[in-house]
Amino acid sequence: MRSMTVDPAKCTRCGICVKVCPAGIVKFGESGLPEMDVRASANCIECGHCALFCPENANFLSFLKNEEMRAASVLKMPSAEEAINFIKTRRSIRSFKITPISPEVFDQIFDTVKFAPTASNRQPVRWIVSADPEKTKEITNLILCWMREEIFKDPTSRISLIGASMIAKAKAGEDALLRGAPHVAVAVVSKDHMWPEDASIALTYLELAAHAHGVGACWGGFLTAAIRNFEGLRECLGISSAEHVCGAQMLGYPQLSPKRQFPTRKPLNISWIK
Ligand SMILES: Cc1cc2nc3c(=O)[nH]c(=O)nc-3n(C[C@H](O)[C@H](O)[C@H](O)COP(=O)(O)O)c2cc1C
Repeated sequence: MRSMTVDPAKCTRCGICVKVCPAGIVKFGESGLPEMDVRASANCIECGHCALFCPENANFLSFLKNEEMRAASVLKMPSAEEAINFIKTRRSIRSFKITPISPEVFDQIFDTVKFAPTASNRQPVRWIVSADPEKTKEITNLILCWMREEIFKDPTSRISLIGASMIAKAKAGEDALLRGAPHVAVAVVSKDHMWPEDASIALTYLELAAHAHGVGACWGGFLTAAIRNFEGLRECLGISSAEHVCGAQMLGYPQLSPKRQFPTRKPLNISWIK
């Protein structure tokens, strides 16, 4: 059972923990100290905000690991300009070195991905990652199998026309599908989960965390479509029919990187309503 312990010597009864609890289950008790309503504790989403926002560090939660907590004030932060440059310099990478990503770097990247927001803090995303570049090649071959099947079904469909070109390139030794990336990462959620966008957000964190480690990423549209539509590939990846494939990315160290930034973008389509 989840519980919140308040240190009476530290708590100033400022009420911030009550205010920031998204579930509304932290309230002042008869003692005058904030408490987590025991009967409502099942509604706690474990966001940790009652402890994170406490100015006196007076709240302790049974599910927060104190050894992982850091004072926000000591964290090194980029300036706004640096942070924005970091986000804006992420580009899709389509040529990769054969060097695989080490398990340590993968761990650091995925440790950041854990911090992506998810509806009700459910953290529902399951990842399937090809750790071995040979497995990634097997995945490329299965996408090609799917494309061959599509050509057989209807040679005039859009995917068949694209597939014919991909197959021709593969025969010529070019991987136009996964771009020779050593790894792919696929994000799935249970079909019962109401918010599949959780995985898209997590994939965006993945791309940015990869960028921070000098690792390139590119969303794999054909990879996603193939997994959604080709049982053989789902089987290879161990994805059940009860899971929704939200998206996938290729990952690896860039062979080429942009020498100039930033590409021109369309003006945003924003309606400022009053
Ligand atoms: C859902 C999605 C699917 C994509 N699929 C592919 C793909 O199959 N192959 C590819 O080379 N790029 C793919 N991309 C990358 C886009 O082409 C790229 O994001 C866009 O051209 C902008 O370039 P940038 O990411 O370098 O800013 C995809 C991007 C998204 C968001």
